[in-house]
Amino acid sequence: MHPFAELAIIGGSGLYALFDQAVEHVVTTPYGPPSDPITVAEVAGRTVAFLPRHGRDHRHPPHRIPYRANLWALRSIGVRQILAPCAVGSLRPECGPGTFVLPDQLIDRTSGRVQTYYDEGAVHVSFADPYCPAGRAAVLAAARQQDVDVHDGGVMVVVEGPRFSTRAESRWYAGIGGTVINMTGHPEAILAREMALCFTTIALVTDFDAGVTSDEAVTQDEVFRVFGENTARLRALLLAVVERLPDQRDCLCPRALDGIKLPFELP
Ligand code: ADE
Repeated sequence: MHPFAELAIIGGSGLYALFDQAVEHVVTTPYGPPSDPITVAEVAGRTVAFLPRHGRDHRHPPHRIPYRANLWALRSIGVRQILAPCAVGSLRPECGPGTFVLPDQLIDRTSGRVQTYYDEGAVHVSFADPYCPAGRAAVLAAARQQDVDVHDGGVMVVVEGPRFSTRAESRWYAGIGGTVINMTGHPEAILAREMALCFTTIALVTDFDAGVTSDEAVTQDEVFRVFGENTARLRALLLAVVERLPDQRDCLCPRALDGIKLPFELP
C-alpha cells in the first residue's frame, strides 16, 4: 500500500532530515526516483512527508535535482500542500544572514532545466502569483507566535548554478528587483502549480550575494555554516507552520487546472 501524507516539507541544503521518528518509503515515478526515500511522520495531528531535495548526502547539485520526480512522488502519496525551505543569498543590505524571507514572487534565470510535465496538449497554467497565499499566511502567523522576524514578501531570483554569481550579475539581479537569490526555487514552484499543489517557500539568508557589499565573494563554506547555525530555528518554524496550515484548501491553487484538458491523469 502507498504511504499517505497530506503535506510535505522539501528540505534544502543543510536540512537533510526533519523527524526524530519516521517511516521511510521508497517511491517510484514515471520520471525516475525522487532525490531520496520519503520519510513520513505525524506532526500536530497531520501526516507530514519529508524529502531532502539534494538527497540526504547532498549528491544532487541544484541543476541535476530530479524536480519532476520529486513533486510527482509527493503528489502520488497524497500530498497537496508543500513547504519548501531553501538557502538563499541576499540582494538587499537590509536582509542579512540569518534573516527569514517569505518571497511572493520569482524570477527564473535558469537555463536548460525541464520545467513542465506537459510536453503535449494545451496546458498553460497561471503563474502570476507563484506561492500559495494560505501557506504564506500560515508562515507569518507561526513566525509571529514564535517571535521570529520574517521579511514578508520579496522576489526570489533563481539562477542555474552551480557557480555563484559575478558581482556584475548580482548587481543586475538587485537592479531588476530581486530580493534574494538561489539555485533551486525553479522549476519546483511551477511543477507544483502544474499539479495544482499549494507551494510555499521559506528562504533563509546565508550570505550577501557578491555585488551587495564589497566584502569577500560568497563561498560554499559560508552558505553551509550559516545554514547549519540556523537549522534549529528553521525546524522549529516549519513545525509551527504545519500546525497552522489550514487542512481545507480555500486558495486558488487546487483550481490551477480548471478548464484545462490534461494529456494524462495526475497521480
Ligand atoms: N544559495 C545560497 N546563497 C546563494 C547565493 N549567493 N547565490 C545563489 N544561490 C545561493
